[in-house]
Amino acid sequence: MSKAIKIVLFSILGIILILFILAMYVNISGIPSYENEAEELSVEVTDARVTEGARMAGILCNQCHGSTDGKLGGAYMADAAAFGEIFAPNITQHPVFGITDYTDGELAYLLRTGIRKDGQYVPPWMPKFPHLSDEDLFSIIAFLRSDHPMVQPSDHNPGEIKPSFLSKILSRTAFKPLPYPEGPVEAPMPSDRVAYGKYLAVAKFDCFGCHSASFQHIDIMNPENSKGYFGGGNILMDKEMNEIRSSNLTMDGETGLGTWTEEEFIKTLRFGMRPDGKPLRFPMMPAPMITDEEASSIWAYLQTIPKISNMIE
Ligand code: HEC
Ligand code: HEC
Repeated sequence: MSKAIKIVLFSILGIILILFILAMYVNISGIPSYENEAEELSVEVTDARVTEGARMAGILCNQCHGSTDGKLGGAYMADAAAFGEIFAPNITQHPVFGITDYTDGELAYLLRTGIRKDGQYVPPWMPKFPHLSDEDLFSIIAFLRSDHPMVQPSDHNPGEIKPSFLSKILSRTAFKPLPYPEGPVEAPMPSDRVAYGKYLAVAKFDCFGCHSASFQHIDIMNPENSKGYFGGGNILMDKEMNEIRSSNLTMDGETGLGTWTEEEFIKTLRFGMRPDGKPLRFPMMPAPMITDEEASSIWAYLQTIPKISNMIE
């Protein structure tokens, strides 16, 4: 064997060994951790906040954290199988399984950045809420602290998360915690229907992620830069693990909602009654807790975004 071939062979072997050691390292060390820079925060629990927080949790948290006892006792997430064996934890006031050890500041920090109390990063199996107004964020926290039945101690223990190797790799490359806001975050006035509708569709009810081209190409900090913003096509899973694509919500006349009326949109969103009579399928849940006024503002905002021609079957 010539010297040159030997050098090449040993280099290749060396590279394989380094890759192997790296893979072992990633596999053993798991999901990375970051400094927890949660601020001091004390959220006042008022009736108004608890009512609003419970409504938001019904739309935003219950689909993952809801347990069979009607509380937020956690559950297995079958549709996240690509990420590993994923369980949404118990977030009730149970002293052992729940989240009583979190401070208000740590809850705010987790919901905005995706960094847990213990510093571990939460991959996209749980959404983050960087643009939610402080008041809406405080409503969720007040609700979690309240005497509302959904957050009373549930002794359900969903199980330990076992992330896949892919999740571990992505959590060290593609996925990063989001920045914590530097100043106060305020929602636009409901009287400014377009701005308010955008706030609802992007920051508060999280419509844009599912309704863009794919979760891999959404830009949470600058949502309009997401690939196929509101043009649909994102592949989701129904309860039987069949693929289902999200609808095109832009005003394109052939492939989007261009021929719908505002009333049809509101009925579909709130009660699942589509103009063609077909029921909405999971994971698109009718949301009767969204008010007519809110649905109408979302409709006003959808009128303003660039049309995308994207036929969804
Ligand atoms: C798509 C599913 C999903 C949704 C929606 C969701 N979560 Fe989670 N949540 C998870 C998963 C999965 C984890 C576990 C994350 C981890 O440890 O990596 C988690 C973790 C948490 C934790 C940390 C618990 C702990 O023990 O450290 C809290 C608190 C929490 N979620 C609150 C909420 C609230 C409040 C909402 C609604 C505003 C919400 N989540 C919406 C899936 C979800
Ligand atoms: C968890 C992902 C997810 C979220 C969050 C979500 N959607 Fe959907 N949506 C879907 C999917 C998937 C469909 C297709 C359902 C079907 O084909 O039956 C759909 C369908 C729709 C439709 C029917 C469109 C048509 O052409 O028939 C409307 C309207 C709609 N969504 C509006 C919204 C709005 C507004 C929000 C935010 C309040 C929202 N969606 C949040 C996944 C989602």
